[in-house]
Amino acid sequence: MKVGLDVGFGHVKVATQERVFKFPSWIGVWNEKDISDVQPISFEGRDYVVGESARFCTQRVELVDFETLLRYLPLIVEYVKRELGEEELEIGVGLAPRHYRRYKDSEEVRKKLSGFELVLPQGFGVLLDVEDELGIEEGETVFVVDIGFNTVDYLLVSKQNGKYFREGMATIERAGVLQAVETFRSILPAELGYIKNWSLSRLVKVFESGQVNVEGEKIDLKSYRERAIETYRTALLSRLKSEVGEAVLESDKVVSAGGGAYLLGKLRKDAYVPSEPEFSNARGFLKALELR
Ligand SMILES: Nc1ncnc2c1ncn2[C@@H]1O[C@H](COP(=O)(O)OP(=O)(O)OP(=O)(O)O)[C@@H](O)[C@H]1O
Ligand SMILES: [Mg+2]
Repeated sequence: MKVGLDVGFGHVKVATQERVFKFPSWIGVWNEKDISDVQPISFEGRDYVVGESARFCTQRVELVDFETLLRYLPLIVEYVKRELGEEELEIGVGLAPRHYRRYKDSEEVRKKLSGFELVLPQGFGVLLDVEDELGIEEGETVFVVDIGFNTVDYLLVSKQNGKYFREGMATIERAGVLQAVETFRSILPAELGYIKNWSLSRLVKVFESGQVNVEGEKIDLKSYRERAIETYRTALLSRLKSEVGEAVLESDKVVSAGGGAYLLGKLRKDAYVPSEPEFSNARGFLKALELR
């Protein structure tokens, strides 16, 4: 079975010919006391649980850096196999642009990823996913932004002789939706001061739902959410302009994808937002496998 796989800080996204699904990028060390009804996955001599079930594990592995990601990727693949009920997978996987560079430069990294059929940089999946809808003409430039939870990846390409030529590509750290959540935290009114001290994951939930329950009463926080999103949109646009230059405004086509596209909508008036934008990369990696 062919599978497109996009491993994010927030969620792992999976695309097959039949369906797409995602699960939180959580890995927990299995402990019978924590969760006895989940069948753990054995990996390097230890038992783990992956995804939503890892919520209740006292000991968690955070996929904070590339080394940790590389090390635990086989475990994530095992979990995907189990979810799909398939042993044999051909996987196209994406790496954030800065990690993709390391993959290109390091024999050791390439060896670790040798089990994957295809390794592509993140935004490239989005480009493949939307190219038919977008109708990219010869000589045109396309700017792709993937707005994630932690990072924002971008890719600037031009179409030359029917192929995409990479003009620019990078990962901007801590520029994702996390920024909007931090702003949301800072502008909450003083009487909700205690919410400000909540953990990030708890606050993300409040931010996403736009409300909070206080002693059985629902408090509407949508106006704070809207303000935080507006501030974030302005900050992200100016950050992109300073990183990429005027291509943000002047490229022939713009695509915004990643889960952040739900919140921000169009970065430019004419921007294209794919349906279920958080799955765009995974769908594109699957398409790349099918085109081979
Ligand atoms: N269906 C949705 N509706 C509204 N917001 C969403 C939805 N799906 C995702 N988001 C928001 O978009 C954010 C980014 O999601 P995404 O899955 O693209 O991040 P990620 O790939 O895990 O992160 P990164 O790219 O930084 O590794 C989520 O944290 C969430 O706040
Ligand atoms: Mg992502």
